[in-house]
Amino acid sequence: MKLARMMAMALFFGTLNLGGGTALAADPAAAKKDDARMRWWREARFGMFIHWGLYAVPAGEWQGKEVKSIGEWIMNNAAIPVSDYEKLAQDFNPARFDAAEWVRIAKDAGMKYIVITTKHHDGFCMFDTKATDYNIVKATPYGKDVLRALSRECKRQGVKFCTYYSIMDWHHPSQFPGKSKTGGLAYNPSQMHPERKAEYIAYMKQQLRELISNYDTAVLWFDGEWCDWWTEADGKDLYAFLRKLKPSLIVNNRVGKGRKGMEGMSTSAEYCGDFGTPEQQIPPSGFPGVDWESCMTMNDTWGFKRNDDHWKSRQQLIRNLADAASKGGNFLLNVGPTSGGLIPPPSVERLEAVGRWIKVNSEAIYDTKASPFEKQLPWGRVTRKSDRLYLHVFDWPAEHKLFLPPIQGKVTGAYLLADPNKRALEVLQTKTEVKIVVPSVAPDANDSVVVVKIQGGKK
Ligand code: GLC
Repeated sequence: MKLARMMAMALFFGTLNLGGGTALAADPAAAKKDDARMRWWREARFGMFIHWGLYAVPAGEWQGKEVKSIGEWIMNNAAIPVSDYEKLAQDFNPARFDAAEWVRIAKDAGMKYIVITTKHHDGFCMFDTKATDYNIVKATPYGKDVLRALSRECKRQGVKFCTYYSIMDWHHPSQFPGKSKTGGLAYNPSQMHPERKAEYIAYMKQQLRELISNYDTAVLWFDGEWCDWWTEADGKDLYAFLRKLKPSLIVNNRVGKGRKGMEGMSTSAEYCGDFGTPEQQIPPSGFPGVDWESCMTMNDTWGFKRNDDHWKSRQQLIRNLADAASKGGNFLLNVGPTSGGLIPPPSVERLEAVGRWIKVNSEAIYDTKASPFEKQLPWGRVTRKSDRLYLHVFDWPAEHKLFLPPIQGKVTGAYLLADPNKRALEVLQTKTEVKIVVPSVAPDANDSVVVVKIQGGKK
């Protein structure tokens, strides 16, 4: 018996149920709550994360030396005094920023939403806020509100506009740095002057209200919640405040302490937030019954870092998107624009490649649900939608035969999604397996999708 087939059989025995074959069982997502509010987000499956701020000016170097670790942490990692870091604003002049172009790049890649940093841990605000002058309009020579431009463009081009906001703030006077292991300055985690916490929360609420009323943000994506002074009760209060301001708002689990525990997830009702945030990884088996989104960099850093050329391949990115969808999750892929206002060309090229794949295969991604098979299949991934399975074949079978574990319900046809004529592929369904005869050459070396139609699969 050929290896692929043996593996498929092994999976079959591993998941055998006596009714004969894998039923297209009720998708665990059906158990998820808040359908109307979460619908667009669940259907979207793919979004663009944008980390943009003053850290793009030093771009990973301080005083002529490369600073280890991620670009947007340079203030902490190079222990830059606040007054020196503030001066970076004078060199932040993104003359080449073009909101329409950024949104077009995201849209052409197949991304349905954008999440942009409005205030990262460094405390600098990338929007026209009344709460502080430490913002792009007041403190930079550029003097324009990039967030306003992006939010308008997103509306115009039909992309959801969403915002990242750091709870920890290395610039706000309510907080102060601790000491690093070597006795130096360590902004992370920030320490709070207890008597100023209420003032800081009022500051946050003022800014978050602005993000909702002036920019109509669809998601609030919190981060920097790990400081000891921020509690689950604070998170719950903030969550309630935000949902009251905008009932349709979606909020990630980092608003409270919920990412402690399993891979950025909290399934427990004691935590607040609408979706989990596994970072730099796609969880091996997803989280059935829970909404989640994997955020990931394209190289090794979120904010622009000049010398980071450790780019993921186009193939890896396409497969990551399919992988996340096959486990019922979203994929939030990051870009770190330069201080001049450009999304780095290696990122744009990769997004174009994903876009070319999406153009042919979007049906196998958007509005799909997790694979109905309990175990991962040896050749790739599976997504599903109503009466269809989408087989994402990463490793094209050498002997031109693709094996699936047994399925309840009749397979009524199969074809390649890349084939405009939907020519029928030969299918052989028995009690012990489904065999699909495929052409000798894979239509796409990254991920070729085979559509399998099933009648009478339990839904
Ligand atoms: C981490 C980092 C931060 C980055 C974020 C994205 O929490 O602190 O720099 O913005 O992950 O998920």
